[in-house]
Order: sequence, then C-alpha cells, then structure tokens
Amino acid sequence: MPWSILTPDLCAHWNGHAVSFTPGVTRSEAPTEDRLEKTWRSCYASIFNPARLKVQAMRNEMPKKCWRNLPEASLIKPLIASAIRTTEAMIANAATEPHKSQKAPESSMSKHKTSGGDLETLRAEAADCRACPLWKNATQTVFGEGPRHARLMLVGEQPGDKEDLAGKPFVGPAGQMLDRALEQAGIERKKVYVTNAVKHFKFVPRGKIRLHQKPATPEIRACRQWYERELASVKPTLVIAMGATAAQSVFGKITPINRNRGHVIELTDGIRALVTVHPSYLLRLPDADTKAREYDRFVDDLRLAAEVLNDAHAA
Ligand code: URA
Repeated sequence: MPWSILTPDLCAHWNGHAVSFTPGVTRSEAPTEDRLEKTWRSCYASIFNPARLKVQAMRNEMPKKCWRNLPEASLIKPLIASAIRTTEAMIANAATEPHKSQKAPESSMSKHKTSGGDLETLRAEAADCRACPLWKNATQTVFGEGPRHARLMLVGEQPGDKEDLAGKPFVGPAGQMLDRALEQAGIERKKVYVTNAVKHFKFVPRGKIRLHQKPATPEIRACRQWYERELASVKPTLVIAMGATAAQSVFGKITPINRNRGHVIELTDGIRALVTVHPSYLLRLPDADTKAREYDRFVDDLRLAAEVLNDAHAA
C-alpha cells in the first residue's frame, strides 16, 4: 500500500517500489485527519490483538504512557475491554469434548431403525453419525436429553450455536424462552424429554458469528432415524413438534403449523402429538404486542399438552 509520512521538517512517501522525500508541510497543508484516521482506525480495529500490542510496545521499548501518541490510541482502551469480554465469553462457552471419529460405524449409517433401545447406546451411536454432511462443521452431535420414560417429548428443529458448544438441547436463548413458557404452563422441564429433529448445528460463518441455517429435507430425512429411535425408546404419551422442521420429522411429511395447531393428532402405538410454533420464532418477532400475543398462544399450546397428559393419566 502506498503511504506518506508528513512532518513539518520532511515528508517521506512510499509508492510501492521506492521511498522518496519532499520538504516538510504545515498541519494545514496536510490532508484532513478524518480521511486518513477513519481508514487507519478501521484497519487497526480489525487486526487488533492485545498480546501483539504488548509485544510490539516492549519490542519498541515504548513506555505505556507514550501509547497515547499513537494515532490508534483512542481505540486501545475499548478494544482491550472488548478483547477481555470476548475471551471471557469464549471461556464461558468452551466447547465440551466433541465425539468425533473419522470413520462412520456401519450402525450409524443404517436408515430408519425403529427398534428403540437403550438411550445411552443410541446417544453413543449418534455421536458418530455421518448420515448427512452436517457433522463436518458442527462441534458434536446434540442428542436428546431427559428422563428415559418421560411422558412428554418436545421436538425442536436443530441445535443452535450454544447447544452445539454445550452438547445439550435448548440451553441458549430459545431454551430460556421455552423454560419460561413450560413453567407458566405448569410443566416441569426436568420431567420432559427434549430433543431436535436434526442433531447437528447447520450454520454459515459470518465473521465471528455462526449464522443458523434451516435444515433441508434430505438432512431432516437422514436424521429422522434418531428421532424414531428416541421415540421407540422413551415411548412418551405425547409429543410436541415445535416448528415446521420438527413437524416434518414427527409426521414424516410437511405439516403446516397453523392448520394443525390445537388439535391432538394420533401417531402409531397410541402416542399422540401436538404441533406449535418454535420458541425462536417468538424471539424473532419484532413487534412487542405480537410477541406477547404469540407467546401467550405458545403457553396455551403447552397448557393443552398438560391437559392431554392429565387426562391420559386419569384414564
Ligand atoms: N433451537 C432448536 O430447535 N433446538 C435447540 O436445541 C436450540 C434452539
């Protein structure tokens, strides 16, 4: 990149090949600070690394008090603060040990086994699932969690960023909204088996963020074997599909939410199902009134689930 250093005594210019010198200039003759500083600040912020800064300063034997003379001085404090916050968040979100082996065991590739089996065995098998390509970028398989014979099974779409790192379903913002709604509906989360239609996080990187991507039908189909086997193992009284992806997995076909919401649907083996919206849909609603109204409808759907369970228990 060509550059110039302007001082009142002498100016140095680099054109990409050679350095040349011209007489010094006064401040008023120099280009406005704004133009240069804006470019430099954004360049500096994007390459900022506090460790490197310290090493540089030590190497240059530049006392800390002189840092203020650097053009980027005003950025250093906030950048250090944000670097500390980033580091703390990275520690807090540290990934659990992913279970990744390179070779797929035969069992995890086989399609649509519905034999159920012990949940822990299923979980261990699913950890090595290579039935679709989503495992490649995800940290780990996020399998379902909850009592082995829970009466209620909740099915979401796929793990999000937080779930992918923690290895547990619904522990991020959508999970917090779900927990609140369950509590309001009088359902104890610890008594519910919570899982997802797709067990690996699908995302595209956008800078430092991993942006959620909706799973495609081949991925939903490839992953369905795990839901079917969880269902056969847990044998819940009622399944709630939250959102379109979950509904597609639970009913084995595209099932519109609004048309089916509020109706108890019979699955096989006496298991019943309800559909409702996904908690992330509620989080995304921009308008506060709509959000409050939709949240109440979500809680009503969960209350209906609690009634279905009570009736089944009484019968
Ligand atoms: N959304 C889901 O569908 N599942 C999770 O586990 C988290 C967010």
